[in-house]
Formats: sequence, structure tokens, C-alpha cells
Amino acid sequence: MNIVFLGPPGAGKGTMAERVADETGLAHVSTGDIFRDNIRHETELGRKVKELIDHGNLVPDSITIELVQDRLQEADVQLGWILDGFPRTRPQAEALSDFARVDLVIHLDLSDEEVIRRLSGRRVHPASGRTYHIEYSPPKKDGFDDETGEPLIKRDDDEEESIRQRLSVYMSQTEPVISYYREKRLIVDVDATGSIDAVAAKIHNVLEKHAAG
Ligand code: AP5
Repeated sequence: MNIVFLGPPGAGKGTMAERVADETGLAHVSTGDIFRDNIRHETELGRKVKELIDHGNLVPDSITIELVQDRLQEADVQLGWILDGFPRTRPQAEALSDFARVDLVIHLDLSDEEVIRRLSGRRVHPASGRTYHIEYSPPKKDGFDDETGEPLIKRDDDEEESIRQRLSVYMSQTEPVISYYREKRLIVDVDATGSIDAVAAKIHNVLEKHAAG
């Protein structure tokens, strides 16, 4: 089964994709995580995309499409995948349909106010990508990763100016992807307000219904 998670920045795509991956064994593929990993390791790709990402702009389609096409050929995704953060432009969605089959698109819907609250409070462990929230999902020890004890950071693109730019890019570039999948009758809307457990339960129901046909 191949699933796409769509939704505004901070809607919980990464958090929910991780949970579904744990439950189902599907591979979690996050383009944002791949780019951040490249930035952290100062690869050529990382150097190319850092400025764009820090300021809340999209990486060009040509780079992103090739990256995902290559990733979906790797062995660990052959039993199915969850795409988180891709596609986020119509050309990306059209390209994806040329090289892969999408079975279900889960659209996490959240207000701008709650997006800002979630992103301002988000803290991450850069090496693993583990994500916390200072209020909604705090680490055991303030400022430190539960598993390694290493310090947590605030993402560079989680500053207010970048968040606003990401929201504006989402409206102009990614909302057309929602219409694209709606026309194909692949999309299920999920209200992403409520606790992490509550939203995970809603997604669980969607997956059960989908499996039952
Ligand atoms: P990406 O990493 O994909 O960023 P995003 O779409 O802005 O999404 P986020 O990772 O910020 O949020 P999320 O929805 O995963 O929320 P999370 O689960 O962390 O992309 C980053 C950048 O890379 C882009 O801006 C772009 O530059 C580039 N890029 C990536 N893909 C690209 C593409 N396809 N094309 C071009 N460029 C691309 O949750 C947020 C917080 O809320 C956390 O603290 C979490 O603990 C908390 N939380 C989650 N759910 C709940 C809940 N139900 N209740 C309370 N708190 C919650």
C-alpha cells in the first residue's frame, strides 16, 4: 500500500507518518528529512538547498522529483511506502503518477493559528529526526532527547518569518495538489486538531475503512 500525507507545515505529517509506519511496516519517506540530512552532512545537495529551506521556499521540482524517484527504487520501500512532504506541487504529483502508484492520500487539515503554535513549540533531535513539542509532547528532560540525552534544537525554518512564508507557499503551490487528488477520488480529509493520540486514532479508522474496501 502506498500512502501520501498532505497538509500544511506543522499539521503533524511527520508525527503521524512515523506512527503509521511503526504500525504497518510501511517505509516512511520524508523529503524534508532527506534534505535536512544532506544539510547536516554538508553534501553538495545540502549546500544547494539550505538557503531555500531556511527561508521557507520550495526546492526546485527537478531536484525533488529525481530524488524521490531514486528513493522509491530502494529495497526497503518495495512493500509499500508513506510519502510525507511530497508531492507538494502539481508537477510533482503528475511526475509521481508516472513512476509510482498512489493508493490513498490523507489530507491533514489545520488552522494557521494552530500551525504557528505547533511549529513555534517544536523541538527536534537532528541526528534521528525525533520530534517533540514543548507543550504537547515534551521530552522527559527539558531540551534533551529522550533516547540519546543529546540537545534538541529549533529548526531554522521554524522562526516566525519562515513559518509565514511556508504557509503562503503551501496555499499557492500545494493546495492545487489537494484538488488534483480530489479529482482522482484518492483523498480523505482528516481534521488534525486534537491530541496526537486523537488524530492518530482518526487516521487508524481511515486506514481500516480503506482496507475493508
Ligand atoms: P518538511 O519537513 O516537509 O516541512 P513541512 O511540510 O513544512 O512540514 P513539517 O515537517 O514542518 O511539519 P509536519 O506536518 O511534519 O509536522 P510535525 O509532525 O513535525 O519540508 C521542509 C522544507 O523542505 C520545505 O519548506 C521545502 O523547503 C523543502 N521541501 C520538502 N519537501 C519538498 C518538496 N516535495 N518539494 C520542494 N521542497 C521541499 O508536527 C509539528 C509539531 O506539532 C511537532 O512539535 C509535533 O510534536 C506536534 N504535533 C503533531 N501532531 C500534534 C497533535 N495532534 N497535537 C499536538 N501537537 C502535535
